[in-house]
Amino acid sequence: MSIYIDRRKNRVTLKTRRTMYVFEMLFGKYPIHLYYGAIKSTQGIEYVKKSKSFSATYSDERFYPDTVASELPLFGSGDYRATALKLRSMETGSDVTYFIYKSMRKFKGRFSPDGLPCADADENTETLELTLTDEVTGAILRLYYTVFPESDVISRYFVLENRGKADLRIEKAMPLSLDIDGDERDMISFYGEWAHERHIQRQPLMRGNQRIFSRRGSSSHHFSPFMMVTDKKATEERGEAYAFNFVWSGNWLGEVETDQTHNTRVLLGLGDECFNYLLKSGESFASPEAVMTYSAKGIGRASRNMHRFVRAHILPRDKFPCRPVVLNSWEAFFFNIDAERMEAFGAEAAKCGMDMVVMDDGWFGKRVNDKAGLGDWYANPDRFPDGLAPFVRRVKKNGIKFGIWIEPEMVNPDSELFRAHPEYILSAPGRRQLESRTQYVLDMANPEVLDYLKCAFAKTLGNVDIDYIKWDMNRNMTEVYSPSLPPERQGEAAYRYMLGVYDLFRWFNENFPNVMIENCSGGGGRYDLGMMKYSTQIWASDNTSPIHRTFIQHGSTFGFPTSVMSCHVGNHKGCIEDARKLDYRFRVAMNGPLGYEFDVLSVSDRVKNTISEQIKEYRTYEELILRGEFFRLLDPSACGRYAYYFADSEADASEFLLSFLQNEGDESERTFKLKLLAADASADYVDTISGEGFSGAQLKKGITVKSDKDGEYARTWHFVRK
Ligand code: DGJ
Repeated sequence: MSIYIDRRKNRVTLKTRRTMYVFEMLFGKYPIHLYYGAIKSTQGIEYVKKSKSFSATYSDERFYPDTVASELPLFGSGDYRATALKLRSMETGSDVTYFIYKSMRKFKGRFSPDGLPCADADENTETLELTLTDEVTGAILRLYYTVFPESDVISRYFVLENRGKADLRIEKAMPLSLDIDGDERDMISFYGEWAHERHIQRQPLMRGNQRIFSRRGSSSHHFSPFMMVTDKKATEERGEAYAFNFVWSGNWLGEVETDQTHNTRVLLGLGDECFNYLLKSGESFASPEAVMTYSAKGIGRASRNMHRFVRAHILPRDKFPCRPVVLNSWEAFFFNIDAERMEAFGAEAAKCGMDMVVMDDGWFGKRVNDKAGLGDWYANPDRFPDGLAPFVRRVKKNGIKFGIWIEPEMVNPDSELFRAHPEYILSAPGRRQLESRTQYVLDMANPEVLDYLKCAFAKTLGNVDIDYIKWDMNRNMTEVYSPSLPPERQGEAAYRYMLGVYDLFRWFNENFPNVMIENCSGGGGRYDLGMMKYSTQIWASDNTSPIHRTFIQHGSTFGFPTSVMSCHVGNHKGCIEDARKLDYRFRVAMNGPLGYEFDVLSVSDRVKNTISEQIKEYRTYEELILRGEFFRLLDPSACGRYAYYFADSEADASEFLLSFLQNEGDESERTFKLKLLAADASADYVDTISGEGFSGAQLKKGITVKSDKDGEYARTWHFVRK
C-alpha cells in the first residue's frame, strides 16, 4: 500500500520505496502541501501559519493563500506567486479561480485520460483522486496523484469538468506544482539547439521566477520539459535532488519561483502563452501527466529513478529485447537512394553482422531533395520500379531486417497533397506562410488529415514486410491556426495538433504491431516522455561528431534512460579508416542502442571486420546498456572527459561496464579516479577485458586512469564478480 488517508486529520501520505509526500486539507477546504522528501516520522510535519504584510486573508479563517505551500495554487485567489490553474468565466469575464476540497478516494491502478500518453500502471500502482468544486462556476476539478513505488515516482494530472451553465476558458494549466521549503538551491535544466541538444545548465535560484519552455509546437531541441531542483552542494552521490518530467511533446512551460517566504515553487505543464482551451458547459478537459521524483542521495539517484520509471511505465513493450543494430542510409547517401543501391547496402550490412538496414529520406513521391514530395506517401516509381514489397523481399533475403523513414506531419508546397488540399496545413487567415526546410506543417488537429495519412500509409506500407519505422519531424510550427477549428478554439490548435499526432502513433502501433518505432525530430527535437510512450528509441541528435555526442549523451542521461538513446557510429569528417577514431566512435556510441550510418559499400575490409567485432562486443554488454543502472562519473563539459558506468544493481552489483572517453589530447599526463560506488566491498571482481583482478573495496576507492597525449581516446572495463 502506498496511499494512506487519515480522514480525521484530512491528511494524505503518499509513500514510495524511499520517499514520502504529505498534504492535508486545511480547515477541511484547502489542499496545502506539508512535506516531500525521504521517509521519516510524520510527527512534527505540521502546517505552520505564515503571514506577511500585504498578503490577504479571509477574516474568519486566517488563511493566507500568498504564503502557504499549496497543492494547487490558483490564479486570482490571493496567491500572488506563479500559479497552476487560471480559469475564466465566459459569462462574467472573471478569472478569479477558486476551488474547495469536497472528497477524496484512492484506488488501485490509475485513471488514464482518453487520447493522452500516460504512464502504465502495474500491480503496485495506486492513485489518489481529490475532488474540488467551485460553486460559482459549477466547475469540478479532480486532482490525481498516481504513485509508482518501485521507481520512487509520483505523477500529477487533473481533469476539469464544466458542470455549470456558462462556458469557461482555461488560460493556464500546470498539472504539476510543488512547493519546497527553502530557496537556497540550484536549478538544473537542458539547453541547446539543433545538433547540440540537451546540454546541461546549472545555476543558483534567483529571487523571482525562472522559466524554461517551448513555444515551437514541439518539446524542442532548445529546452526539454525536464528539470531538477537540488541542494547547492548536491553532487552525483550526495545531497537532495528533485527531478521533474512531463509526458507531453508539444508546447510546455516549466517555472521555478522563489518568494518572500523562502519557498521554492516548481510548476510544470502546458503554460499560458501557447495554450488556452474553451471548456463549454458539459465538457471536460484532461491535462497531460507530469512526474516527479526525489533523491536524498544526489543527482545520480534522481536520474536513475527517472530511468527506472521510464523503462517500466512509459516505454512501449520492447519488441526487440535485443535491439537491432541498424545501418541507416542518411549520412551514406542522403537523398540519392534507389532499389539497387539499397539492396547492395543491405547485403553489405548483413555481411558486417548488422541486423537491420534503414532506408531514410528519399524513397517516395518526387522526393529527390528536400524541396518536393513530402505528403505523397507512395514509392517513387523511378527509384522502385516494381514497388516496395518485392524490393523489401529481396533486401530481406540476405537475412536482414528492414526499416523505413517517414515524416507524416509535414508537406512540401511542391507536392500532390498540397496542390489538392492547401487547406490541410496550419495557416492563419490573410497571413503569408513561413517555410522551414521548404515545408509546411499539416494540421494534425484535422481528422481529415489523419484519415488521409492513415489511408496513404496503409496502402503503401500495409503489404510491405517492414520491421521498423523512423518517424521524423523537421520543422517547428508557425501560423499556428487550425483551419479545421472554429475561431473560439484557436488557442487549442497546437494542443489538438499533438493529440492528432498521438492518435496517428497509436494507429501505427495497432496496425503494425510488430514494428518498432524510432522517433526523431531533426535528431532529438522531441526527446520527451510523450514520444517515449510510443517509440522504443529516439535518434538523439543529427550530430554524429563523437566529441559533440559526449555532451549530448551525458546531458540526456539526466532525465532519460540510455535504452532510448539511439547512438550511431558515423563517418563524420571521413575518419572511418583511422582505426583509433573508429574505435573511439564505437565506444562513444556504446552508451545506448548501437547503429551505424555511413557508406559501408565504400570502406575497406578492415573497417568491415572491425564493425563485426564491435557488434559482438556490444552484444556482450547490451543487457547492461539497455537495462542496467547508470552512474555518471565525469562531465565532458567540465573536464573534456566523459566517464560513466552501468551496473546490474544500484548497490553490491556483480557486473559493471565502465567507460572513459577523452575528447581532447593532453600535453601533460593527468590521472582520474573513477569510483564504482555500486561495488560490493566484500567481493572480488575481474576485468574480463584485461584479465586483471580487483577487490570491491578497490573499485569503490576508484580505478586510476591516465589521460592520453592524443585526443579521441577511449577505454572500457568490464568487471564481473568472481
Ligand atoms: C533529419 C533526421 O534527423 C536525419 O537523420 C534524417 O532522417 C533527415 N531528417 C532526413 O531528411
